[in-house]
Amino acid sequence: MTHNAQDLLKPWKRKGSQFADLLVTWYRSNNRDWPWRTKFAQSGDPYVVWISEVMLQQTTIQAVLPAYLRFLDVFPDVYRLAHATEDEIRQACRGLGYYRRFRMMHEASKILTAELKHESETVLWPKDFKSWKELPGIGDYTAAAISSIAFGFPKAVVDGNVERVFCRLFNLQVVPDMKWKKVFQSVGDSLIPSDTPSEFNQGLMELGQSVCSKQNPKCGICPVQSFCEAYVLGTQSLAPAPKSAINFEDVRIHLFILEKRGRFGLLERKPTARFLKGNWSFPSAIEQKDLSLAWETGKVTTGHARSLGLVKHSITKHKIEVLVSELTCNEDVAGLRWVSEDQIEKTLVSNMDRKALHLYLKRRVRAPMDSIFDSR
Ligand code: ADE
Ligand code: SF4
Repeated sequence: MTHNAQDLLKPWKRKGSQFADLLVTWYRSNNRDWPWRTKFAQSGDPYVVWISEVMLQQTTIQAVLPAYLRFLDVFPDVYRLAHATEDEIRQACRGLGYYRRFRMMHEASKILTAELKHESETVLWPKDFKSWKELPGIGDYTAAAISSIAFGFPKAVVDGNVERVFCRLFNLQVVPDMKWKKVFQSVGDSLIPSDTPSEFNQGLMELGQSVCSKQNPKCGICPVQSFCEAYVLGTQSLAPAPKSAINFEDVRIHLFILEKRGRFGLLERKPTARFLKGNWSFPSAIEQKDLSLAWETGKVTTGHARSLGLVKHSITKHKIEVLVSELTCNEDVAGLRWVSEDQIEKTLVSNMDRKALHLYLKRRVRAPMDSIFDSR
């Protein structure tokens, strides 16, 4: 099987530019006015593109929309983002699973604005693919997307949708792995026109979303149908080949809720933790094969734990069972941060901890303080 871009593109001869023209023309009359597009058209601020691409990397457009607008409300430009506190970033990403990405983005925004003394000064944005990649948290996908969309730099974006389109165009009945991703990157790079890279990239992504969809692609209205080998052969449902079922790994976590006078005790997750490194969470540990506990946060003494039940959660390929216990502890644990009940929901970063909290609030035994005021 052919594994390089040159061989794949050989039958296209010099028609590559015609492919790009068809795609870009289609995109110009069919693109949807997502807020990141209108905002960028109005302000020309690369920041609004950056945020959208960071969010869109792993999440669907529908899920991104509210989060995007909320984030821009709180941090309207790169200067404000750079001057945000860790806590403010955490709050803006609450429950989205974006926290790590945005902590990196926070770092990058500090680098970009390091020389600025005031919000009104101009940021010296990186303009090409390579300089974007030098910033923390920016990988191939984000660097290609931002540099092409906001700066007209001709570097192809290869996301899951683009991979599917390429698999069909060349009738590749394979599971697109890293090796294929490289081939597609190079196919995209040789097809992307230097005058309309933004429209080419967004067009290809959007074609994959709306026309060349996973199931029942709408080949009848596809602008690049004349280039498509899968269409000719009727093999759209075979290219790409279906991924083998994901092997979920079962994990069991013990999570302990400490409450003292209306405040909850949180610990920072260790840099070596398996999940959610560096976040504040309820004390928790992963159950090992031999049933011993590997602490994700600092350790607490669990002798007097009272079990409250179980919640389920998944993180990437892990199916997690969380055994939630209530802990009465008299000793002082190092590093505990006490958060009041009205702040706790906002402070927790992971939905895993939030689910545990809800279980606790339902099941907790009323503190003795409350019973003093019982009117019996
Ligand atoms: N998916 C991620 N970024 C996109 C963009 N800019 N246009 C269309 N789809 C996308
Ligand atoms: Fe996808 Fe059909 Fe277009 Fe081929 S012709 S790229 S399968 S929508």
